Amino acid sequence: MLRTAVSGSVRRRSEAVPAGGMWRGLVRLMSESYIQNLFAERIGGRQYGKSGAIYKFEKIKRAKRAAMTAHPGAEIIDLGVGEPDEMAFPEVVEKLCAEARKRENRGYADNGDSALKEAAARYLDRVCGVKGINPETEVLHSIGSKAALSILPAALINPGDYVLMTVPGYPVFGTHAKYLGGRVHNLPLTEANGFLPDLDSVPAEVLKQAKVLVLNYPNNPTGASATPAFFVQAVAFATKHRLVVIHDAAYAALVFEGRPLSFLATPGAKEIGVELHSASKSFNMTGWRCGFVAGNELLVRAYGDVKDNTDSGQFLAIQHAAAHGLDHPEITEQIAAKYSRRMDTLVAGLTQAGFHARKPKGSFFLYVKAPKAAVSKDGARIEFRCAEEVSQWLITEKLISTVPWDDVGAYLRFSVTFAAKTVADEARIIGHVAERLGDVRFEF
Ligand SMILES: Cc1ncc(COP(=O)(O)O)c(C=O)c1O
Repeated sequence: MLRTAVSGSVRRRSEAVPAGGMWRGLVRLMSESYIQNLFAERIGGRQYGKSGAIYKFEKIKRAKRAAMTAHPGAEIIDLGVGEPDEMAFPEVVEKLCAEARKRENRGYADNGDSALKEAAARYLDRVCGVKGINPETEVLHSIGSKAALSILPAALINPGDYVLMTVPGYPVFGTHAKYLGGRVHNLPLTEANGFLPDLDSVPAEVLKQAKVLVLNYPNNPTGASATPAFFVQAVAFATKHRLVVIHDAAYAALVFEGRPLSFLATPGAKEIGVELHSASKSFNMTGWRCGFVAGNELLVRAYGDVKDNTDSGQFLAIQHAAAHGLDHPEITEQIAAKYSRRMDTLVAGLTQAGFHARKPKGSFFLYVKAPKAAVSKDGARIEFRCAEEVSQWLITEKLISTVPWDDVGAYLRFSVTFAAKTVADEARIIGHVAERLGDVRFEF
């Protein structure tokens, strides 16, 4: 008699069971939860979770862990982090504490009160030179830009619609557009073009079905900044082809010279687009989850309608603390000055090691061409087929963590948000980078 009990994850099998492939297949079928057959195709359907593929950031984490185990006590230099190394400024934390104590802030915030909206409109005016944003109708908070990028597609994308996205880049809008049956047309960012997309390269048949152009400057991962002329071109392109522009300005305020460049400062931009700002990087508030969407009234309203059906708003105390930050742009200026200083040191260190490093105008990312080979003093030569191989070699052999990008050419992203308490410590860490790379010659 065949006696098999399948109860939750516990499976028992009697000794009288026949061996063989058919039996094993049957057991596997019986033991697999029916939930496995219920997953939507957009996340892999029945195959969900079965792929052995390891994603880039997980590979980096694993390689880091392996390097730490192989070299106990050694200092791993982490230049791969994509978020600030410091706490939010004390005055912002104080504001949060005070606001959290207020009874009127305790409940669902829904689409927010006026504090953040008004602060955002003031900020756009004072910091970015964007005049005339109506805080009531043209601004709405987000639970971070990532949340806004995941909500906006539902307001715009029908099955078959195209989204124009720059690559390499932050893929969240495109991922959600695809969840909804939309399609993504990639616009490669090349060094030759200053990491700005060639809008004229979009095929006519794609343009006919395109609805949205997603831009992000200063850019992750290239660190490139847009120019006013490019934004003028983007507005003209979007207007001509009846597209919406979503400008992800998560790094907008982190500039090393001049004032932040807002897409909304471009004539005509408010007629066709919105801009996403975030307290995450500008105010060292990544975990707090707060930002805002501003621009075209109709788009802001549609974002609000979908948002209202998605979340119940960010805690008002957090919104009010973020509003305090927006009224104190000198906080961001101090953060940007720190990144600028670190960037100078890192550019010098990497140049000394043979990389072609050029300081970007903003963000905290330094994007450099990955070498094709490393030759050590004894003549041993290691060849790299892609940036990912260089990155793995850097962490394994040099205990330096980076993020590789192989989408358009082979590049490495170094971030200046590495943990360092003092200016001397920053110099010491970058000194180590140059030193560790000093015993090889890179070929590009
Ligand atoms: C380009 C870009 N957009 C948006 C985000 C998400 O920002 P937030 O913390 O506001 O969700 C990030 C975070 O790394 C990013 O790099």
